[in-house]
Amino acid sequence: MSFEPKIAQKQPYVLEEKAGTKRAWCSCGLSETQPYCDGSHKKHNTGMTPIVVTIEKDDTVAWCGCKHSQNKPYCDGTHKKL
Ligand code: FES
Ligand code: FES
Repeated sequence: MSFEPKIAQKQPYVLEEKAGTKRAWCSCGLSETQPYCDGSHKKHNTGMTPIVVTIEKDDTVAWCGCKHSQNKPYCDGTHKKL
């Protein structure tokens, strides 16, 4: 049985990110340091892993908080349909 990601919140986490920063976005929804992974996916045996990205330029990033985006790790508006 595959793990259904938990909806951390039904809106994005909109954050300023710096160029060159490596971020591990939580895909399982269980992290307590949203939107980033804190290792909870292992503790709860979700079988899921974070999506790791390196920020290319100083920017405002809308990280998906609902974990159901079709363009993970970024918000694509899917949260409005949940
Ligand atoms: Fe959710 Fe790591 S805690 S992917
Ligand atoms: Fe997940 Fe917007 S917060 S699609």
